[in-house]
Amino acid sequence: MITVFGSLNVDYVFQMPALPAPGETLLASSLVVLAGGKGGNQALAAARAGATVHMAGAVGDDGMGDIALAGLHGAGVNTDAVAAIHGPTGTASINVNGDGENTIVVFPGANAGASHTQLPSRGLEANDLLLLQMEIPVPEMAQMISHANRVAAKVVWNLAPMQAVDIELLRQVAILVVNEVELQQLGKHLGLPTDGTVAALLAQVAEQTTNSVVLTLGAKGCLADHQGDQIAVPALPIKPVDTVGAGDAFCGAFAAALDAGEPFPTALRWGCVAGSLACLKEGAQTALPSRDDISSHLPTLPN
Ligand code: RIB
Repeated sequence: MITVFGSLNVDYVFQMPALPAPGETLLASSLVVLAGGKGGNQALAAARAGATVHMAGAVGDDGMGDIALAGLHGAGVNTDAVAAIHGPTGTASINVNGDGENTIVVFPGANAGASHTQLPSRGLEANDLLLLQMEIPVPEMAQMISHANRVAAKVVWNLAPMQAVDIELLRQVAILVVNEVELQQLGKHLGLPTDGTVAALLAQVAEQTTNSVVLTLGAKGCLADHQGDQIAVPALPIKPVDTVGAGDAFCGAFAAALDAGEPFPTALRWGCVAGSLACLKEGAQTALPSRDDISSHLPTLPN
């Protein structure tokens, strides 16, 4: 079973001719309001990929929580550990340009009140997987990580968006997932030289944190440092419509594969396929692939 402890947002997605520059006003060609939040997106991605998923987090009492949770309910994700607290639901403003690139601004809202106490003490068990991101308070995630370690659950932490974290906390985690920006930020935070190759930095981060570290590379797939080996996996050759949530699709499907007992390199392939397919429609949760979609595309991914 997978428990996701993370953010739940309502996303306002604006289609733009270009991403606005400082001081510039642009007219959007469309606006859609969709469920989002890295926590909710990853929970849904894992459920769509076949995992049994429990979501822990918080929405506000502003009526928007129903939008944030609709996709999770539809996919059978257990939301008993999602609190409804006073104030606004987390909200994201997302600009997407014609190439599918995006910029995102998040107002945490209720996510700032997410608490580890929402998960019942029997909520995590040995061999469960705890999947985290970085849009809820770090001290609350630290408590959850300690609990996961006490019961021998595996922790996968997507450091998005990157925040300064104590290295001792990072060392309590089995697998870190970062993108290229976050790898640079993490390298600087750890005092590592960041002017060499990405592969060298990845290896140093893995050594310092004693983790497996997965670097997502967008259209180039991913590169992982795992038990002293570096494993590269390509993405599917697609023309992206909207890359919002591609990293979340990767994390959710990767976690689902690990939870299903797949070997680490195979789990990376699930992640790359899901991340690619998630770019084919607008919105973070709209194009998350099912387990069957992932299985049918796996053979088409080059080795
Ligand atoms: O990763 C994409 C997500 O980031 C969006 O759904 C938005 O809500 C922000 O959390």
